[in-house]
Amino acid sequence: MRSPRDFLKPQAVGAPAPLAEIPFKPSRMIHFFDPSNEKMAAKLPDIAKKTDILLGNLEDAVPADRKEAAREGLVKIGKQVDLGDTALWTRINSLDSPWVLDDLLRLVLEIGDRLEVVMVPKVEGAWDIHYVDRLLAQLEAKAKLRRPLLVHAILETAQGVANVEEIAQASPRMQGMSFGPADLAASRRMKTTRVGGGHPGYLVVTDPVKDQPEAPRQTAQQDLWHYSIARMVDACTANGLLPFYGPFGDISDPVGCEAQFRAAFLMGCVGAWSLHPSQIDIAKQVFSPDPAEVRFARRVLEAMPDGRGVLMLDGKMQDDATWKQCKVMVSLAELLAKKDPELAAKYGL
Ligand code: GLV
Ligand code: MG
Repeated sequence: MRSPRDFLKPQAVGAPAPLAEIPFKPSRMIHFFDPSNEKMAAKLPDIAKKTDILLGNLEDAVPADRKEAAREGLVKIGKQVDLGDTALWTRINSLDSPWVLDDLLRLVLEIGDRLEVVMVPKVEGAWDIHYVDRLLAQLEAKAKLRRPLLVHAILETAQGVANVEEIAQASPRMQGMSFGPADLAASRRMKTTRVGGGHPGYLVVTDPVKDQPEAPRQTAQQDLWHYSIARMVDACTANGLLPFYGPFGDISDPVGCEAQFRAAFLMGCVGAWSLHPSQIDIAKQVFSPDPAEVRFARRVLEAMPDGRGVLMLDGKMQDDATWKQCKVMVSLAELLAKKDPELAAKYGL
């Protein structure tokens, strides 16, 4: 166990000091793109106007014979493309792959000053983060970077879920986590063939009707992911990290996508991945608090200026704890309103 006194010291001579606090910026969607696709790269400045985070994906979904083209494409984008105030992230290949060392060497040395966050897939325990932590510090020193790169882990193996707290605490670089239901399903040997969402077979059924064994019985699908997302949200928020829901693979099902994103939002996630432009709008809608809720939350804050006491508003009890919930809602609305004039008008801010 590392001494708390050393936690905020750089891991290599000449590397920038770690941040004591993770900055919170609008993070409603992490939009994935394949940097080996030149047509897509040409569209990035336009896509950047409506996204909070753009992520150059080097891992799964990029075929083995395009790995180098993807890495080089991202270097070029980082050097040449203006993305405004949209953050640029990358997802590197997994730590056991033949590509990851070159991913880190090339990206940090060439565009380390442009990248904000490195997403690391298939993180299993603190040891994976320690490896990346030290290597990043060495590369930051070599590249003479002044700002430390942050690390985002994907929670997508059974062992990763079992070790989620120690992963969250492994380094001050830990910016957040995303939930990866596709790899997690495979790792757990779940009998599904999907990327996120529910399953018609995972349900509860009402009791049989007395003396009518054939009578129809209502069923309701349950959330396959509730337990693990809740663990991730607790591990992240307990340690000052940001939790995200990951991918929803059925692009033809916007309703299912919206429900999955909303469940994550209500549980405390700040955003989700978008794998297709249509999901950018869904994420924006879901992860921006509802204007009616924001208006109500502002009324609570106004009614209890010092955040203490008890009163009734529209028949609902308000006290110190509801005040704190309202503060979360209004602070997020204020942050998003600064970036998005349309939202600012809806919130009356
Ligand atoms: C994401 O990478 C997933 O496996 O769901
Ligand atoms: Mg995965």
